Amino acid sequence: AEKAEKPSVVWLHFQECTGCSESLLRSSHPGLSELILDLVSLDYHETLMAGSGVQAEESLHSAVTENKNNYILVVEGAIPTKEGGVYCKVGGKTAVESLKEMAEKAAAIISIGTCASYGGIQAVDPNPTGAVGVWDIVKDKPVINVPGCPPNPYNFLSVILYYMTFNKFPKLDKLNRPLFAYGRKIHEHCERRPHFDAGRFAEKYGDEGHKNGYCLYKLGCKGPATFANCSVLRFNDAGVWPVSVGHPCIGCTEPSILFKKSIDEKV
Ligand code: SF4
Ligand code: SF4
Ligand code: F3S
Repeated sequence: AEKAEKPSVVWLHFQECTGCSESLLRSSHPGLSELILDLVSLDYHETLMAGSGVQAEESLHSAVTENKNNYILVVEGAIPTKEGGVYCKVGGKTAVESLKEMAEKAAAIISIGTCASYGGIQAVDPNPTGAVGVWDIVKDKPVINVPGCPPNPYNFLSVILYYMTFNKFPKLDKLNRPLFAYGRKIHEHCERRPHFDAGRFAEKYGDEGHKNGYCLYKLGCKGPATFANCSVLRFNDAGVWPVSVGHPCIGCTEPSILFKKSIDEKV
């Protein structure tokens, strides 16, 4: 059978730290180079592409026109909306302008990371730049959220591979997160859970309980209210995740916990 054409991916960076791309760079099955060279055609990514300036803008333009409006748009970073969006401009356009333009022609949109999903750190009160997530701007088509700060790269890759295989997105929850990754709470599969159930807690960093691997709830762990698969999937092929190395989960996939932003009106 003829090999299916590689889907074009256009990746926009707005208000962010590039940690989501950095995290993806450390994935190994598939690795990012395999993803870029063999599986998809990454036609525009400001951090990874060799071109810059006018050349880069031309790549973006040709990705859009040559792919007959059939590309996957990935957004990393929040979108500032105050003062006409002046707080983030790339190639002379505000993030709001670029997002609207690129989203209109995209076949699918994925927000990678908590910034692009909900506004992230930038949106914390008093939110001086009016930062919002992609789905606050793009209302006329589904936006898949893959939150986390950064998200586990395999959750993102799985969404891309699922879409390439079935030409549709996997099932989503009310926050548009793929259920395969965000369907259960951290707490349900945490290796410290037996200590929680038995009432054995670390009371402060470095105490006997902490050294013994007891539950981190009293240190502020948000695992009981955080939907994500960190405790199962873990990070960097090293088998570690925040709680396994002694730090409470801060609920980085949950807008209502980390960023104190109520999303009740959305769901
Ligand atoms: Fe950085 Fe976190 Fe935002 Fe990703 S979600 S760009 S890691 S601040
Ligand atoms: Fe739950 Fe956190 Fe305790 Fe793990 S460390 S059992 S996630 S409260
Ligand atoms: Fe984030 Fe908690 Fe996982 S802080 S990385 S959701 S363990």
